[in-house]
Amino acid sequence: MNTVDAIRVSRCAGALGAEIAGVDLAAPLGESLIDALRRIWLEHGVIFFRDQNLSPAQFAATARRFGEPVEYPFVKGLPDHPEIIEVIKREHETVNFGGVWHSDTAYLERPPMATMLLARETPPYGGDTLFANQYLAWETLSEGMRGMLTRLRCLNSSDKADVSRTREDRVRENAAPLAKQRYAAAHPVARTHPETGRVSLYVNVAHALRFEGMSEEESAPILGYLFAHQVKPEFTCRFQWRPGSLALWDNRCTLHNPVNDYHGSRRAMLRITLAGDAPV
Ligand code: SIN
Repeated sequence: MNTVDAIRVSRCAGALGAEIAGVDLAAPLGESLIDALRRIWLEHGVIFFRDQNLSPAQFAATARRFGEPVEYPFVKGLPDHPEIIEVIKREHETVNFGGVWHSDTAYLERPPMATMLLARETPPYGGDTLFANQYLAWETLSEGMRGMLTRLRCLNSSDKADVSRTREDRVRENAAPLAKQRYAAAHPVARTHPETGRVSLYVNVAHALRFEGMSEEESAPILGYLFAHQVKPEFTCRFQWRPGSLALWDNRCTLHNPVNDYHGSRRAMLRITLAGDAPV
């Protein structure tokens, strides 16, 4: 039986991330527990649980307690759970899914609020995921830079080569039948979080193409600066997976990057994204 009093929170780093103990996600999750977890999540940007050996049905049920699962546009989900995709890197593969700093599917008009990742099989070493706090990225820019960026919107596209190559293995194996060739959406560079009211930097190297009203060439120097700035080590944390580890990240104010340092070993995760708002 889960109780709010049993929750224990350990911060992973100065910037973001907290590991939660004392919760069994397979057991009933009452309203007060979900409210408490949501508050912790909003404060830390990404939360981690250990030893949650959930079946796909239990994983989907847990996700529905936090939001509304939505399907990933490019890869078909599990036969009984289309909202769950498998994020696998096989022993012979050299490219990992999403292996570049990004916020999930920022090229959609309404990108997901959150992503949940459940580790099923982990390599003997490596395969960690890095996260970066984009409130800090925003707040540490100069007043002049923030003033300029506040007026800008950025066009995000699904077909930038660095990221589209990271999904090719999964698409070849299991393409979503109704996937468009390309998705694109423009969003504010300074994004106001709908729940915390805080402003975060909302661009990412995987999807950001150019500022609206500017060419790619004109946008490149400023975007290049922001891409380097937003992942400074002091804005990040690093999570080491074990089978049964589960992460829930806030896709509105964090970036993530799975480290591709385990060639020859298999890593298998289940992934669900939760519906979000149009960024403002
Ligand atoms: C993703 O970008 O959703 C995958 C993250 C990971 O495999 O750690």
